[in-house]
Amino acid sequence: MGRYIIRGGRAISGTLSVQGAKNSALPIMAACILSTGKSVLDNVPRLTDVQVMAEIMQMAGAKVAWTGNSTLSIDCTDVDNGDVPEHLMRRMRSSFIVVGPLLGRLGRVRVTYPGGCAIGTRAIDLHLMGLSKLGARITPTNSGYIEFQAEKLRGTQIDLDIPSVGATENIMMAAVTAQGTTVISNPAREPEIVDLQCFLNKLGAKVSGAGSDVIVIEGVESLGAARHSIIPDRIAAGTLLVAAAVTGGDVTLTDVVPGHLSVVIAKLREMGAEIETQANSIRIVSRGKLQSVNKIVTAPYPGFPTDMQPQFMAALATARGVSVLTEKIFDGRFKHIDELRRMGANISVDNRTAIIRGVETLYGTNVVATDLRAGAALVIAALGAQGVTVVEGVSHIDRGYVALEQQLLTLGADITRREGEWA
Ligand code: EPZ
Repeated sequence: MGRYIIRGGRAISGTLSVQGAKNSALPIMAACILSTGKSVLDNVPRLTDVQVMAEIMQMAGAKVAWTGNSTLSIDCTDVDNGDVPEHLMRRMRSSFIVVGPLLGRLGRVRVTYPGGCAIGTRAIDLHLMGLSKLGARITPTNSGYIEFQAEKLRGTQIDLDIPSVGATENIMMAAVTAQGTTVISNPAREPEIVDLQCFLNKLGAKVSGAGSDVIVIEGVESLGAARHSIIPDRIAAGTLLVAAAVTGGDVTLTDVVPGHLSVVIAKLREMGAEIETQANSIRIVSRGKLQSVNKIVTAPYPGFPTDMQPQFMAALATARGVSVLTEKIFDGRFKHIDELRRMGANISVDNRTAIIRGVETLYGTNVVATDLRAGAALVIAALGAQGVTVVEGVSHIDRGYVALEQQLLTLGADITRREGEWA
């Protein structure tokens, strides 16, 4: 496990291009399984989760290769294996989104449960409900695997009682070559869902409504190949904005879609940061102390993103006043609080609500990243803290950020990365 050594108290400033979206690249890679051709994806972030998805696809028979720093070539002509081994399923919680495309392509899939993770249970009941309604026969085996079989999936009406991102993606991908029309009501509305629709339609699918509260998929016989550029990562962008706000910096992000970050930008303005946006760029200027916010409640898009909750908690820890933050999406996404307390944060928790009483400053110490966004939060806290912080467990951060230390060094932060066992 590697670690970051961060000396806080330095404002970050400069201009940085935002990486491609992890949570768009993963389902779009999986969607290539439905195609009998060779697709090319641009603006793909070099992340460990992307590497895991590539390994799962190669296991299925796909040829996946980097042909540029952020360009993936994916040839699914010879995809013929629907068995995904447990060690791969367990390496990434969102591995389960390969089930829909594999089932649509091969008619038989065998996977394990994706398992829980540091942010809470990762249920799959909505995935199973949707695939079952499309006609899949689902058989749990006694070895922890689940088998899916379907000669031909059939379009139907599917109502999601939770707008699950992964379930929406799985059902969309399974439905694109089903017989007839599928209507998904109450789907996830994230920009990554719209990007997936765009890619599927480039392959020859007939999907409409992504981003709204009803998605309609008309089944087609087969799908070709396409070239597609992944949308910018709104969470990676939001993370850098919060880091600039905390350190009193002046940062311009390019190759970003401000409209994907409306609520995040509004909250940072409420906290006292000055933000101006252009078509594909965001500039943030923060002068000194931030203000607390009355409340933040995480919600499905376009509400406040749960993936930005830990980062805002780190910023609010030294804001002037008391903030109330409620996590409504995941039941275990407060593990960063204990680590922030080690740095001097004053945070109390009542079930899913955290009361954050701003303190004058946090102090550098040794902390441990428990998951991807918790790790990002600790980096933000360290950048604003007095003294030196060691953030252990950067492999979690590598899952979602492309060389975060390089990004921050470009902006003038005092951060180094050390590999090997913790001394
Ligand atoms: C996606 O996870 C993202 N991951 C997550 O980002 C993100 O936090 C999450 O959506 C919510 O926005 C990817 O896109 C790869 P969900 P996903 O299904 O699809 C419950 C990050 O940091 N639920 O929308 O797993 C579930 O328990 C990651 O980049 C069911 O009850 O999230 C949760 O409470 C973390 N049954 C809620 O829905 C189901 O069948 C939202 O989960 C599925 C989900």
